[in-house]
Amino acid sequence: MTERTLVLVKPDGVARGLVGEVVSRIERKGLKLVALELRTVPQALAEEHYAEHKERSFFGDLLEFITSGPLVALAVEGPRAIAAFRQLAGGTDPVEKATPGTIRGDFALETQYNLVHGSDSPESAERELKLWFPDL
Ligand code: CMP
Repeated sequence: MTERTLVLVKPDGVARGLVGEVVSRIERKGLKLVALELRTVPQALAEEHYAEHKERSFFGDLLEFITSGPLVALAVEGPRAIAAFRQLAGGTDPVEKATPGTIRGDFALETQYNLVHGSDSPESAERELKLWFPDL
């Protein structure tokens, strides 16, 4: 089933020059880019995007980080695109969960600086794509 998912290359990924690496892995997997934009995120969008985490202890740090510099937002499409990108990304904790061969497993060390975000369900994908790419 063709799906769309939201992918973010977070500010750490942009600062480290890993945008091309991430986009290349998405394309090599066979997924299609349907939107791509470099932008610095306003506080309000960051809060809405991460609303489900607002009671977590790391919420403040998460907002500060995600608004700290430009990120790249992508809408990505393909068969089972949501799960396919999460497979490419690897687990949230880049050392304990992500395995070598995944984006986080290959390039990240800390959960807070885990380089990429991908929608985790069809409901999240729909909500997040509306938020980031309302005209899509
Ligand atoms: P992401 O997929 O963008 O969704 C929520 C984010 O919160 C997650 O990736 C991590 O970057 C961040 N996160 C999750 N757990 C922690 C934690 N324990 N400490 C700091 N950041 C976290």
